[in-house]
Amino acid sequence: LCAPQDLFAQEGRVNSKGFDLSDEATLSALFAARDTALPLAHPITRRPATGTHLAVHNPATGAVVSSVLQGDGATALRAIEDARLWDAPVAERAKVLRKASDLFEENAGVIFATLAREAGKTLSDCVGELREAVDFLRYYADQAEARDAIAARGIFTAISPWNFPLAIFTGQVAAALAAGNAVIAKPAEATPVIATLAVTLMHRAGVPACALQLVTGTGGEVGRALTCDPRINGVVFTGSTTTAQAIRRAMADRVDPGAPLIAETGGLNAMIVDSTALPEQAVRDIVASAFQSAGQRCSALRCLYVQEDVVPHFMEMLKGAMNELTLGDPWDLRTDVGPVIDQTAYDAIAGYLAQAREKGMILHQVAVPDTGLFIAPTLIKVGGIADLGHEVFGPVLHVATFKSKQIHKVIADVNARGFGLTFGLHTRIDTRVQEVADGLNVGNIYVNRNQIGAIVSSQPFGGEGLSGTGPKAGGPSYLTRFAAPDPMADQL
Ligand code: NAD
Ligand code: ALA
Repeated sequence: LCAPQDLFAQEGRVNSKGFDLSDEATLSALFAARDTALPLAHPITRRPATGTHLAVHNPATGAVVSSVLQGDGATALRAIEDARLWDAPVAERAKVLRKASDLFEENAGVIFATLAREAGKTLSDCVGELREAVDFLRYYADQAEARDAIAARGIFTAISPWNFPLAIFTGQVAAALAAGNAVIAKPAEATPVIATLAVTLMHRAGVPACALQLVTGTGGEVGRALTCDPRINGVVFTGSTTTAQAIRRAMADRVDPGAPLIAETGGLNAMIVDSTALPEQAVRDIVASAFQSAGQRCSALRCLYVQEDVVPHFMEMLKGAMNELTLGDPWDLRTDVGPVIDQTAYDAIAGYLAQAREKGMILHQVAVPDTGLFIAPTLIKVGGIADLGHEVFGPVLHVATFKSKQIHKVIADVNARGFGLTFGLHTRIDTRVQEVADGLNVGNIYVNRNQIGAIVSSQPFGGEGLSGTGPKAGGPSYLTRFAAPDPMADQL
């Protein structure tokens, strides 16, 4: 494993330093921005947008924090008509993207306030999210410049989820722009304010208005309009597997068959803890993997396998660590777990937990605040990953046991589910690491650490099977899918 400082300085490039939340001056500057009035969210298009005005709510308190002009299908179609390639030389595009990354860092206060109040992100998650967005901007700028020639495909639709409403939103847009495409971005319904802020900062940095437009709105109307139009030359999507499948069907009807769909989707991620693992380290990494960000990460741990020999002691330690978790105000530094994103998500997870309780499957659950959309971090007993019906997108961890000689069955069961995003392994047996890695069909395997928070460039991130099409985000192959195929490639 690399030490963290090595992870930030590969290939002679340096990732964002982030923010040190133990530094008092940094903290007081961030806290000064805490109650900043959030910007209004709206489409950013060449012609005036049409649609409906809606309130934007804070998931922790229910308070109205801003409003959004929700664009409609007509706004999306006008954005397609008005889109133009960014035909500046690659060096100029790279310079502008780097300038945007600097503006993101300079505006950390309002960005953190927006992420916390619109998306319920804790301060440490805000730091990670901004850092990843900045890294994507700089990394794709470097990657574009490093190529001798990179030609745009045309108009790219970028559709993003609410759980990384800045990092994934920015990563998709930055990659498409670095290759010179025109981009129309559609953010998730729950997080239009941070998207409006990000596009405003990118325009301020110098991205031309016709090369980057934003259309807020629903997936069913705006998302659909932007993915089934014959003038679209590619779609980059992150979200649920079901939506990716719907987009593929929509594109198949009307869009040029050569237009790529780059999709990063859901996961049913597992971890094995064997009897040689260091329990304190494994418990710390399980808690982070399953409950950080309230379990609202595609990479989050959903099914833990603990070797039978160590179960009683290990489970007591895990329950003890869970009891130390603090749920509450995302801007309180003591908070470990914030709210889930909205009432629909809350009801779905609460319903799932009620069924598990009826069946006597709850192993452990911690206390929650009385108000706000907080779900108690919970352990649910299962026989194995085959018992999980679907991706439960919250702080819910399923726990199974295995016997040492059954490790191949665990690997086969994980592969059989067809998802392939992240996997965690805690072991001190060197040969087991290779054996597990060779047997698994997953994108990212993490050994003796947590399985969330991939770092741009050092840990390219993406799944296979039902978890995504590849190429991996933040890796060297990503930009090639946004660029026109090299006509000389077949001549060699
Ligand atoms: P979602 O699929 O409901 O929505 C994602 C986006 O798609 C939103 O902007 C939505 O408006 C849009 N959309 C919905 N229907 C559409 C349609 N018919 N046509 C076009 N666009 C449409 O997902 P979500 O709830 O926002 O995000 C959570 C999901 O995202 C989870 O499954 C999670 O695992 C996954 N995710 C994956 C990654 C990854 O990198 N693999 C990262 C983050 C989240
Ligand atoms: N890239 C994000 C992670 O690794 C989704 O957690």
